[in-house]
Amino acid sequence: MTAPLAIPPRFAGTDFTWGVATASFQIEGATEADGRLPSIWDRFCATPGKVLNGDTGEPGCDHYRRWESDVELIASLGVDAYRLSIAWPRVLREDGSLNEKGLDFYRRLLDRLAERGVQRYVTLYHWDLPQHLQDKGGWLNRETAYRFADYADRVSRALAGRVNAWMTLNEPWCSAFLGHGNGHHAPGLAHPRYAMQAMHHLLLGHGLALPALQAGDPAARRGIVANVGRGTTDGAREADREAAQLYEVMHNAWVLDPLFLGQYPAELQRLWPGSEPLVLAGDMAAITRPIDFLGINYYFRSNLRSNGAGGFVDMPLPGVERTQMGWEVYPQGLEDLLRGFRARYATLPPIYITENGMASDDKVVDGHVDDAQRISYLERHIAAVARAAEAGVDVRGYFVWSLMDNFEWAFGYERRFGLVHVDYATQQRTLKNSALALKAFLAARRR
Ligand code: FCB
Repeated sequence: MTAPLAIPPRFAGTDFTWGVATASFQIEGATEADGRLPSIWDRFCATPGKVLNGDTGEPGCDHYRRWESDVELIASLGVDAYRLSIAWPRVLREDGSLNEKGLDFYRRLLDRLAERGVQRYVTLYHWDLPQHLQDKGGWLNRETAYRFADYADRVSRALAGRVNAWMTLNEPWCSAFLGHGNGHHAPGLAHPRYAMQAMHHLLLGHGLALPALQAGDPAARRGIVANVGRGTTDGAREADREAAQLYEVMHNAWVLDPLFLGQYPAELQRLWPGSEPLVLAGDMAAITRPIDFLGINYYFRSNLRSNGAGGFVDMPLPGVERTQMGWEVYPQGLEDLLRGFRARYATLPPIYITENGMASDDKVVDGHVDDAQRISYLERHIAAVARAAEAGVDVRGYFVWSLMDNFEWAFGYERRFGLVHVDYATQQRTLKNSALALKAFLAARRR
């Protein structure tokens, strides 16, 4: 019998939303079913050396075919909400018209979740850009922002009434920087100028999508999801402190300043001289359109030192607790960041923690998965969120990344983030102890 997850009283009421999260490319598999078009991640996976062990989106968790039992799994946990994403290349054809077969998958899924009493939090873009748009320049082409708004318009009309909350983009920082700045993610481009321009077009797409979502599905809430990172320094020099600050500007303010202050942080020019994006009149007004909530994804802290040239270098701290990703476990960073955002942004909307969790090398032994570190990780991070809430940050919900082990981008299937273990050969799902602990907490809350 696994003990319930220890949750601060503040979040133990039914007014706080508990959920689990996934994303289309990471779980669906079936990359060629029912007219799905290739995405930039299919192309990236097929490029030798880009993804660990040559892993691809197939078979994933085969969720496209196993969705019914997966919904039962989600419902069995007793969560309030499920965060999923829609695969753009499944639901729109190359000419921009709807692919009804692909849409039907999401209609059935969303309807069944509703029948099971699970709220639907739906991300429109969790990185699977249709390859045909990449062939025309992808996020470096301003036209992609308009295509994204059109996608939001068509899909929100088609699924109106089935979604509680829409999220336009997941982690534009990753799409912009990992995809275009250092090339670790699809489409694998690497230049700060590309990253800056891609970011602007991503955020513009978000801003243009908001009125489309409002018109298409007026009853649903609208938001965006940003990944944020804590940067501190163990260095003694003023330059080291500045380096840590610059890290947070580069990771957090690059996305949040345009959304809530209407401008890109000036420090980015120091970091990447001559990389300003082309911004047209009216763009910032679109980007700052009000949203109903902000999704925050948090995983770790980095220790920075000055690189002696106005930038920063990552100097991993020795002897600290880390996960299978090598990421430091640092719950305090989440409290610090949330409090910092509240201080910096007067128009900060209510916050949902839309992702938090950790990877470990989990094994099924006698039908059980002992992931004690994950239980502790979750409890400590939730406690940190509760401290931020005590300090006045308006946090409304928390989603664990992830419901189940899945395709962890450039790391393929080797890194396991799930509450539920997946045996990829048999597609057998096994609840890890962390899932049982969450379930026990939620069951006790409902009584
Ligand atoms: C985030 C992604 C999510 C998952 C976690 C571990 O950056 O949004 O898809 O891969 O990291």
